[in-house]
Amino acid sequence: MVLSFKFECQACCSHTQARAGVFYTPHGLVETPRFMPVGTLATVKTLTTAQLQATGAQMILANTYHLHLQPGEGIVAGAGGLHKFMVWDKPMLTDSGGFQVFSLSKLRKITEEGVTFRSPRDGRIIELTPERSIQIQNALGADVIMAFDECPPYPAEWQYVAASCDRTYRWLERCIKAHERKDQALFGIVQGGVYLDLRQKAAASLAELDLPGYAIGGVSVGEPPELIEKIVKATAPLLPREKPRYLMGVGTYREMARAIAGGVDLFDCVIPTRFARHGTAMVQGERWNLKNAQFREDFTALDDSCPCYTCQNFSRAYLCHLVRSREILAYTLLSIHNVTELVRFTQRIREAILSDRFATEFARWLDPAPSSDAI
Ligand code: GUN
Ligand code: ZN
Repeated sequence: MVLSFKFECQACCSHTQARAGVFYTPHGLVETPRFMPVGTLATVKTLTTAQLQATGAQMILANTYHLHLQPGEGIVAGAGGLHKFMVWDKPMLTDSGGFQVFSLSKLRKITEEGVTFRSPRDGRIIELTPERSIQIQNALGADVIMAFDECPPYPAEWQYVAASCDRTYRWLERCIKAHERKDQALFGIVQGGVYLDLRQKAAASLAELDLPGYAIGGVSVGEPPELIEKIVKATAPLLPREKPRYLMGVGTYREMARAIAGGVDLFDCVIPTRFARHGTAMVQGERWNLKNAQFREDFTALDDSCPCYTCQNFSRAYLCHLVRSREILAYTLLSIHNVTELVRFTQRIREAILSDRFATEFARWLDPAPSSDAI
């Protein structure tokens, strides 16, 4: 079963560390680099499975924290696992819950054992430990599961982050021991905040564990975006070449392009669906607020080069009307477009790497001078 996971590098860029590859999982393959939409509560918000498939998404995420609180992993396991429960038969990943506890729960306490917090649903005290997180993720049954980690806040003192990293490493060792399903791949997560020495130490020690994949976490928590690239470039070269690399929580054009240039293969982010719910379309690197009066009588497609159902059928004027009327369809149509747009951005990069045109074709995103309206 362990053999059902494999990462194959198909092409390397001759100017950067970018690579195009294929990640094989028990539910099929993921062509990398690729953006993964987030389905926190076993739904990529507002999209049906068929709509999600049509965006080109090959792998999606769900969250241990949310699914443990509602409906509970027992129900998901009773349905036959996450794939059957939500009717998605392609690769899936669950995040471990640590990050969500830190970002969503007010009353929380971190000890060597794990994290305790008060459920925002009913006030219950809940303890998540590395062992519990892995048990829950084993019950949910995604193809890839994540180690239970601490994502330190930004800013945080070197001393704090150093101690946190050591604890996250000990938690990883406990996750490895607790992990029982060999048809699920456990990825380790490199932390270290903005301190490159801590990042490098974490990456080097994780690399020795020979895990089936590696993530870079603890970014996009308020630090200047340029630091993401520095963190990736200091860390990715220390991670095994023959394993997939996943940059957690990053889904902006510039940061993805630069991280791909640093050797990252997978990304996830809530922005395409969150923007959609705010009436914002992501169009070729820009952010458009569809409520704006300029769209009221604009009968052209959102992006006539986009193959998505929204762009193939509806006008900006119609989308503007739906957003202004707060019609639910607005959020579905914009999510279809935004998710397609980000998946396609990574697909285009992949094709460029395969023909060794990445560094020239994506120079707009890789060059140092940022354009002001870019996302
Ligand atoms: N999602 C975004 N960042 C992180 C992180 O640092 N850790 C985990 N587990 N999930 C994340
Ligand atoms: Zn579109």
